[in-house]
Amino acid sequence: MKGQTSKHLLLMLLIAVFITQLSAQVKISTPRIEIIPQPTKVVEHTGVFMLVPTTRIQCDPSFSGVASLLSKGASIRQFSVLEKVNGPKIKLVKVGRETVSDSMGYRLVITPEEITLSAATNAGALNGMHSLMQLILLQPNQGEIPCAEIDDHPRFGYRGVMLDVSRHFFPADYIKRYLDLMALYKMNVFHWHLTDGPGWRLEIKKYPELTAKTAYRTHKIWKDWWGTPRHYSDEGSPNGYGGYYTQKQAREIVAYAKQLGITVIPEIEMPGHSDEVLAVYPNLACSGKPFTNGELCLGNDSTFVFLKNVLTEVMAIFPSQYIHVGGDEADQAAWKKCPKCQKRIKDEKLNNESELQSYGVRRIEQFLASKGRKLLGWDEILEGGLAPAATVMSWRGEEGGITAAKMGHNVIMTPGNTCYFDHYQADPLTQPLAIGGYLTLENVYQYEPIPAELDSDKAKYVLGAQANIWTEYISSIEHLEYMTYPRLLAMAEVTWSEKGKRDFTNFKSRLQAHYRLLQRLDVNYCRPSYGLEIESKINTEAKKALISFKSELLNPSIYYTLDGTEPTKTSNLYQGSLELSGSSKICAAIIEDGELKEKSAKLTVDFHKAIGKKVTYNLPYSKGYSAHKEASLVNGYRGGGLTYGDGEWQGFDTNDMDVTIDLEKSDALKSITISFMQQTGPGVYMPDFVDISVSDNGKDFRKVKTITNDIPLTQSKLTLKNFEADLTGEKARYVRVFGKNGQHGFLFTDEVIIY
Ligand code: ACM
Repeated sequence: MKGQTSKHLLLMLLIAVFITQLSAQVKISTPRIEIIPQPTKVVEHTGVFMLVPTTRIQCDPSFSGVASLLSKGASIRQFSVLEKVNGPKIKLVKVGRETVSDSMGYRLVITPEEITLSAATNAGALNGMHSLMQLILLQPNQGEIPCAEIDDHPRFGYRGVMLDVSRHFFPADYIKRYLDLMALYKMNVFHWHLTDGPGWRLEIKKYPELTAKTAYRTHKIWKDWWGTPRHYSDEGSPNGYGGYYTQKQAREIVAYAKQLGITVIPEIEMPGHSDEVLAVYPNLACSGKPFTNGELCLGNDSTFVFLKNVLTEVMAIFPSQYIHVGGDEADQAAWKKCPKCQKRIKDEKLNNESELQSYGVRRIEQFLASKGRKLLGWDEILEGGLAPAATVMSWRGEEGGITAAKMGHNVIMTPGNTCYFDHYQADPLTQPLAIGGYLTLENVYQYEPIPAELDSDKAKYVLGAQANIWTEYISSIEHLEYMTYPRLLAMAEVTWSEKGKRDFTNFKSRLQAHYRLLQRLDVNYCRPSYGLEIESKINTEAKKALISFKSELLNPSIYYTLDGTEPTKTSNLYQGSLELSGSSKICAAIIEDGELKEKSAKLTVDFHKAIGKKVTYNLPYSKGYSAHKEASLVNGYRGGGLTYGDGEWQGFDTNDMDVTIDLEKSDALKSITISFMQQTGPGVYMPDFVDISVSDNGKDFRKVKTITNDIPLTQSKLTLKNFEADLTGEKARYVRVFGKNGQHGFLFTDEVIIY
């Protein structure tokens, strides 16, 4: 094959390229290599290659598709096949595997005379072409491509984006634009969440009722629909809201994605999240009735007949190796009461309903395997036993992924707190309504898909990571782009670039040019926030705090005060380091052109008596929100005002908060303050009351104060409250804090401040 390839090299196609709109304009900056994701190796040289109207592409025949994308994407008016190229050219050269570092890799050499892109495969050539395309698009007015040598290959083979088109439908033409943008940043898997309770979105010829009856619903706004009996509208009804993809459209999208180097993985949800199927085929529900629950009956063989028929059509449209079968969040209540499901459990000698779900997944896996396909599912497919060759998509944290990798199964990481792009990306008070959570650009950027628990022989099972975009609150293209960008650029770097090469400050610096590019491409990206986060490192011995500020802006002007008052342009200007002695109330903000750009950030540093002291948990804290574990409540600083997920707030999940702090010696007390948070959407409530007790022997406690809550349960927005008590006159070694979790939801607390 290699010999034939080099013969083909002699027969190179010559494609002429006419560049338009290259009029000389004022230089914005010296061009630099600002590719995202960061390539493996870049050596910059002086000089530039000038794109001029006579620049032509000369390509290996097998890369003619890549050449055509380059000519289109770089706004080239026309191109033609020539036999011989004289003058400035871009060469796309096919080389042997030994010449590039990886089959998906490429080498790009830019000199003043020519640009040479070498790759061993079409995928490698596409990756290199997208780097080159960025370099061209980033310099739209100059046509100057900086001279450099770039050797590059991906860290992970799976770099995914999941789009939920069930909760809101996005038209086929827009999906193509979405793919174009993904490809520009080298994301190579589009996981298409096509079916779910809110609507079935893919034409199935054998079951036309699926789309005719459930691709449209009665209400557009999620909360309105969710609050109703959640009914559907027939296709064509005047008030119906939704849509679906015909098989022809889906095939076109698959083909379109393929030429961009993107694999489309369809997801057909089962056995849960199937309310829409049961609305049309109530015989597949345990109750035999629609609108009772969202789970398919697994005791009923008709369910498997239906699923196999659907999957047969799905496989004919989507050639992907993987077929995603959902598997998440299936409620087992209906199966527990269903005679058919219970008979299945008995006949198959299953132990419980989790094993019943696993039985269903295995049956589907066998079917997919018989057609040469592989099963992919959300991490619930681990429960009740993982199907033999299944790949697990870990979303409820990383635990499912770790377990599956340890079992030798392939894994895709997409944990909620770092990969869910439906979460807020800045202060929720400044943002369009989202489902909750808090996932900043930097949080995405800092995500590491290989968990520390996996050593190298297990880490290899982590195929990559994925951004998930659930669309309950995302009903428009503008909003979808807003939630996707720029966070997808961070995810691109997480999944493509070497771990050791990732540096957020450097990323932010490259990002500035990409913000301008996204503007030119008319992408409605989320503008970088003027918000600040304050971080402090406490040295308890020396009673010093090292303060730093986190911002999405590059080199912002940060002004601060230390007495809690709002900063102005005459306040202290942060010069890159700040060390404080003693307690202080820091208040900081970005001020530009004399204007305070967004509300200030506050952090109180308290050098109080309890800092660094031993905390005994009489009741456990939440595993998922452990913050700094035993050190959380006495580390000298308080959780921030944006989210319980900032790593400072400690959660108590359904149980009360009950901790004892040992001050090491009996001491006169002055006061106690404990902060709590309320945000009712995710089930976070204030305690009903907080009891403070003291003791000198750590056994016999005396209650000295009860602090009651005055924040109503109906106050849904994020609210902080200090529960404070005067302790003057008390002397004790042990202080016990008991917070009543009356709602049995989450208590979130930080810092027990004792003076
Ligand atoms: C999921 O977020 N339910 C996979």
